[in-house]
Amino acid sequence: MLIIGSPNTECGLMAGLRVLECGGSAVDAVEQTLRVVEEQAGDGSVGLGGLPNILGQVELDASIMDGRNLAAGAVAALQGFLHPISVARRVMELLPHVLLVGQGAFLFAQEIGAERAELLTERGREELEMRLRAVSGTVAENEPLYRRVQALLGFRPGGTACAIAVDAGGHICTGVTTSGWAFKYPGRVGDSPLIGAGNYADDRYGAAACTGIGEAAIRIGAARSVVLRLSTGQRLDEALWQVMQEARRLKLGVPLHLNIYALSESGEHALCSTSRERAHYLCAYPGDREPRRLPALPLAALGDAPACT
Ligand code: GLY
Repeated sequence: MLIIGSPNTECGLMAGLRVLECGGSAVDAVEQTLRVVEEQAGDGSVGLGGLPNILGQVELDASIMDGRNLAAGAVAALQGFLHPISVARRVMELLPHVLLVGQGAFLFAQEIGAERAELLTERGREELEMRLRAVSGTVAENEPLYRRVQALLGFRPGGTACAIAVDAGGHICTGVTTSGWAFKYPGRVGDSPLIGAGNYADDRYGAAACTGIGEAAIRIGAARSVVLRLSTGQRLDEALWQVMQEARRLKLGVPLHLNIYALSESGEHALCSTSRERAHYLCAYPGDREPRRLPALPLAALGDAPACT
């Protein structure tokens, strides 16, 4: 049994571990961990207080995948609900579908009685206004929205929370939740709710979850690529490095920022990150009283970035 998570799961990881210690499933543990993160107003990249789109609306994306049977559920561009990860779980459990977006996700969340919330905080509103003021000299009020999104590209979007758990039965679950790219074009969906891009779990081989610029993870099918490499017998670090090399070949229009968290079927885990700061992730085993902080794989091992294609 164990649970790993992105640094911003610190507030919720032990709650997830307690679920496992009490005999709960990996799915329960991942959901519980991410629900705690979604409730924190201080994290501008997830749930309550997530930074809004260019119109000032907070649009949330989330997904969950059960490695026992490859069942998955996801929501994208969901507005007005506190726990997109729980809505994603109910999509997995109640519908023959995997992904609900926008109005459909909203309708479903309403039908299952999901908790409503005003997600835009004062800080989120002020941050958007400040950014728009800063570019008002280059983009006029009457210009199309996409021009404003382009003007704000210099602001580095960040965040997203993910967790991967293994329960007493050896079953793996991954979950990802995010408010996505800050000040994005309305309706923009990142990798987090896309199974195979930002999230993938298969009990037989392992799991992977991504944070960072979703467009990169989508274009290389990052999470599924890692698990597919594990299925061929590749070492975890090797699989992560090779998938990261694929990401480094992309032309994104913004600097690549990508973190891939992964776990093998044998319980080995690692983070591969483009972050120049000392990237780390969290991990907790039964009996731990607080999350362990573990360093990412050394980026130097990746060598120079290959030529862009
Ligand atoms: N990785 C989160 C996003 O790009 O939306």
